[in-house]
Amino acid sequence: MLLSPLFKQTLELLRCYIFVSPTLMTDSLLSEMMQTALVSGRRCYSSSAIAAKKWIYAKVFKGEPTQENFQLHTENLPALKDGDFLAQAEYISVDPYMRPYMMAYPAGSLMIGGQVGKVIDSKNAAFPVGASIFGQFGWRTHTVCNPATMKADQPYVLPSFGNLPISLGLGVLGMPGNTAYFGLLELCSPKKGETVVVSGAAGAVGNHVGQIAKNLGCRVVGIAGSDAKCQWLKDLGFDEAINYKTANIFGELKKAAPKGVDMYFDNVGGQISETVIKLMNLHGRIAVCGTISNYNTAVEKVTDPLRQMVFKQLKMEGFVVWRWNDRWMEGIEANLKWINEGKLKWHETVTEGFDNLPIAFMDMLKGGNTGKAVVKIN
Ligand SMILES: NC(=O)c1ccc[n+]([C@@H]2O[C@H](COP(=O)([O-])OP(=O)(O)OC[C@H]3O[C@@H](n4cnc5c(N)ncnc54)[C@H](OP(=O)(O)O)[C@@H]3O)[C@@H](O)[C@H]2O)c1
Repeated sequence: MLLSPLFKQTLELLRCYIFVSPTLMTDSLLSEMMQTALVSGRRCYSSSAIAAKKWIYAKVFKGEPTQENFQLHTENLPALKDGDFLAQAEYISVDPYMRPYMMAYPAGSLMIGGQVGKVIDSKNAAFPVGASIFGQFGWRTHTVCNPATMKADQPYVLPSFGNLPISLGLGVLGMPGNTAYFGLLELCSPKKGETVVVSGAAGAVGNHVGQIAKNLGCRVVGIAGSDAKCQWLKDLGFDEAINYKTANIFGELKKAAPKGVDMYFDNVGGQISETVIKLMNLHGRIAVCGTISNYNTAVEKVTDPLRQMVFKQLKMEGFVVWRWNDRWMEGIEANLKWINEGKLKWHETVTEGFDNLPIAFMDMLKGGNTGKAVVKIN
């Protein structure tokens, strides 16, 4: 029988939307129908019909990561059960913590990481189709998730960002943003007129810390890895910025912080931190956020920093941002408010394509990013 294209299309729509009766429809028949719908370009998804991709941690890191450490795989997704939803990644984050954290996983594990995307099928009323979400789903294009079965890393529906891009849920309105917000405010207690030094200053967390400190009336000095990054920091309002690759950090810091350093937000550790701590004032506060200077290398030798701690009566505290899980939305809302008031600028370094995740990750570790490094999944 010859069918007109319009009739054929209508028939397919009916098959997809009306004839899906749980009693008559087997999984394989449903899957076949959904495949047809996908091929004909309509928004009618089934997890089993999707060609999902994921990046595997194929070889244990030694030194700087290389392409050999990663392998691209396809995966078949299970059919959705009650409580499940199916998420499609739109942006995936590449973060420094992935380098040390992956050392705790065996080769062959999924690469860990956060992503923002859309719910494209759902049997969970809290995650309806079309919702924009954040999930700690790793480097994968599609994820079937049942939050009730997860002990930690609960996904969440993103609050409305207005006209701002959803990718900010990985940066200034997500984990790095909350790291800057809670890390600085809770651990350093900044006061107007005090001096803050931030290392890793042109990255996702660092530039944000400096901007909050400026909003609070502090003097802010950033330390970053190129003249271009230092200029960007000054354009953002930092009082001074020091290129740690070319400058005598001690000498430049003495000039940039003539009244000494009251707070140090440390993203890098090692010799940079040793130098900053020498210039701390009495009762100075140090928030230890990260030690990226040794993620790819042996730990740098430094002289005993505890001497400075005693005589200057410093307070030094390490933290992991998940400490403030119960106040997560408070941080996002405060940062969103500052953005909307023009008091907080954001910048992203965007790499295109799921297949380029390892390249984006390796590039970020080498300082290739300014602001937040994210990968756009096409
Ligand atoms: N504690 C927490 O909960 C938490 C949460 C998020 C992040 N962190 C930590 O915070 C730090 C910054 O994270 P982020 O997400 O904002 O990353 P990021 O700063 O956006 O990116 C990493 C940056 O580190 C710098 N870098 C690389 N090697 C370095 C070295 N040997 N010495 C000094 N700087 C180096 C590079 O910039 P340059 O060009 O300036 O070298 C690079 O752009 C990391 O240590 C991360 O582990 C901690």
